[in-house]
Formats: sequence, structure tokens, C-alpha cells
Amino acid sequence: MSLTRRFFMAASSAAAVSGAEGPVRATPLRPRHFGPLYYDQTEWGFLKEVFEARAPFRFWGMPGGKTPDKVSSFEREFSAYMQTKYTLAVTSGTAALQVAMAALEVGPGDEVIVPAWTWHSCFNAVVMAGALPVLAEIDTTFNLDPADVEKRITPRTKVLMAVHLQGNPARMDELLAIARKHKLKVLEDVSQAVGASYKGRPLGSMGDIAIASLQVNKTISAGEGGAVYTNDAALYERAVRFHDVGGIRAVHSDVMGGPKGQAFIGVNYRVNEFTGAVILGQIRKLPRVVADIRGVAKRVYDGIRDLPGIEFRGLPDPAGELGSGVYLGFAGKAQRDRFLELMKAENVPGGGPSGSVILPLQEHIIAKRGPHPKWPTWTSAEGKAVRYGPEASPRTIAILERFGGVPLDPKYTEKDTRDIVAAIRKVYPKVMAAS
Ligand SMILES: Cc1ncc(COP(=O)(O)O)c(C=O)c1O
Repeated sequence: MSLTRRFFMAASSAAAVSGAEGPVRATPLRPRHFGPLYYDQTEWGFLKEVFEARAPFRFWGMPGGKTPDKVSSFEREFSAYMQTKYTLAVTSGTAALQVAMAALEVGPGDEVIVPAWTWHSCFNAVVMAGALPVLAEIDTTFNLDPADVEKRITPRTKVLMAVHLQGNPARMDELLAIARKHKLKVLEDVSQAVGASYKGRPLGSMGDIAIASLQVNKTISAGEGGAVYTNDAALYERAVRFHDVGGIRAVHSDVMGGPKGQAFIGVNYRVNEFTGAVILGQIRKLPRVVADIRGVAKRVYDGIRDLPGIEFRGLPDPAGELGSGVYLGFAGKAQRDRFLELMKAENVPGGGPSGSVILPLQEHIIAKRGPHPKWPTWTSAEGKAVRYGPEASPRTIAILERFGGVPLDPKYTEKDTRDIVAAIRKVYPKVMAAS
């Protein structure tokens, strides 16, 4: 990069801010899991109720006794927060994805577009349904690149999986327009962005069906857990049936004014009342967690946005982002890695984009290894022809290699965020000047 006068001035003022040559912090800053940081008497009280009622099963308590109704209460409150009519709690985000596949009737012969950078479960759910995952490139939002999605559509494409990664909403206007044009269903995976929004709408409320994970790395958590949510009664009924071996009980059929569909083969992804107790406590904390993490992220963004040449990760709606991390773009991997190395020396460790995997670099995916050698995903002509190696998603790999940043914690103090800002202001100009 050529050094402009403005750049020199910013670099020297950053050096003045950092003062002497010691690290910005004496001890490393480490973000913690969000949800458990907020555990208090609410979750504890609900757990005690379940324990004392000796009623851990959501559908009935002791003979003659009542269930504390924690899972059902969570479903109602999650729906209200997400502005969707129906929520079904399930055992994990992975289970939720499989439930959503069954709700959407995805199966052999269907194709589902999945980002090349996402969590294993997104790809695996499509394979478990017997359908074919088709990988699309991401852009600098770290989410689906709408232009690339459109190129991957075939007459067999049924669903577009819009995953909102690392707290950042995907480009929903463009993705929804593509889905409408090609008559595709949209599944929103909100696992890494629970509580974030897009143009004022909660993530998950815009597509046909959405899923969330409540695993420990997510915004709110009972250690494990998941949710499927939708405004579509027919999809909800299929989701409920699939998660409960094909049946539907009064708790769920009442919500939709009686079942309309038929039983079909399903699994057991039901949630117990202990988990329900914790996730009910947690959904009530969600507005606080979101306000806190956004506040932390704002202090970091505001402290560095004047740095000359700074490139943030693509933000389709900056106000809607969760703020779980601040990511900066560099010229390439070497420069990004140098930035991360210097940040670590300041005791403000960061990393590249995380929490997902580059699917086309996974050996078992390249080799198309399913649960059985004759799994229908890869026995069709299209399944045999598809190639998942790195050459299929070069832009995704290049983008992930050149971005680096700092993951955040909603309870970071003002001093913590000042340290993050000071470290970036000290390190970033050095790294840029060296290129
Ligand atoms: C985007 C995404 N989808 C789905 C999942 C699966 O969630 P779980 O771990 O609850 O099964 C995860 C978990 O990390 C995820 O990040």
C-alpha cells in the first residue's frame, strides 16, 4: 500500500496513544460464552420448579401432577421475540436443521444451496435428508454471495440456506428476491446470530422457516438446544411431527387450531424440562445480551473507524449486526497473520473468521463420504458429477484468509474496549505500512 500523508499522521498519532513499548494489556483478553454469563436466580428458580415437581418430561408430570411447562413457555416467548407465529424447541441446532429439511420435504433428487463457509451441520442436514448440497461462494459479509447463488440454481434446486454467520445478517433483500424469482424456499440458519436483525426484522422471520442453535457458543444457551421457527402452519406441523416420531400432541396442535396433515416417519428430538427451564430464563435475557454486545462492538467500531484505509467485514445492516466480533480486511493472508501476531503480543488475541469450517477443504466432504456407501446424495448423476474441492470455492477461501479480527464479550468493560481500540490503533498502521 502506498503511504499517504494522512496515513503517516494516523500512524504517528496511534503510536502516541500507545505510549511506551510494552503491551497494551498486562494479561490476555479472552471472550467468554455469552449465555452462561447471565445465569442468575431466574434460571435457578425455573430449574428448582422442575426438580421439585419431579416433572422433567415436557408433556406430562407425575401421575395426577402437572408439568411446569417450561419448554412450551420458551416456545411462546421465543416466537414473540422473533415475530414468528410458531416455534418448536428441539435438542440442538443440528437437529433443528434436520427437522427443517423434513418440514420442507427435502429429499433425494432435490438440491439445497449452502454457503461454502458454514458449520458442518448445514451440509450434513442436506445429506441426511438424502438431498444434494450445492456450495455457493461467500462475499465479504462471510455469508452467501447472492450473485454466486444465482449461478448455482438448477431445475432441482428446492431450498436456499441463508446462514447468518458470526452475528452478521446475510444479504436478505437480494437472497429473498432470488428465491422469489426461482420459486425456492428459504431456510434461515440464525444459530450464530440469535438476537440480530435485518432492517428492523428479527433474523429468521423473513424466510419460509428458520432454525437456531442454543449450544454454549451461541447468544443464549442451556449448553445444548435448538429451535425451529416459522410463520407457516403446514411447515410447523411437519416440523412437530418429525421431531416426535410422526405424531402431534395437544400442546402443539392447539397452537395451530388442530392438525391438518398426516403422520409420517420421524425421530425424537424432544426437549426436556430442565433444558426448558434454562432456555426460558435465557430468552428473557436476550434483549439485555444483545444490547450489551452491541454496546461493546460500537465502542470498538467508533474507536477505529477513522483509521485510514480501514476495511470492515461487509455489513448489510450495521445496526442489525449482533456485534459478536469486529473483523478487518487485509491485502492477503500474510498481512492478516502479521496483524494477528502483533495483536497477540499486545495481549488482545484475535483470529480469522471462526465458528465455521471451509467445507470444500474437508477431506470427507471432498471424498463424498456419507453414512453409507450407497447413500442417495451421491448416487444420482448430479451427485456423481459434483466436485467439492477448493477449486470449486476459491473466492470463499481467499476472503477468509485475508480477514482477521477480535471476538467480543458482552460483559467487556469500558477499559477492555479501550484496550482493544488501543491495540488495533497501535498495530494496524504498522501492518499496513509494512505492506
Ligand atoms: C451456523 C450453524 N448452524 C448449525 C449449528 C448446529 O448447532 P448445534 O451445535 O446446536 O447442533 C451451528 C453450531 O455451531 C452453527 O454454527
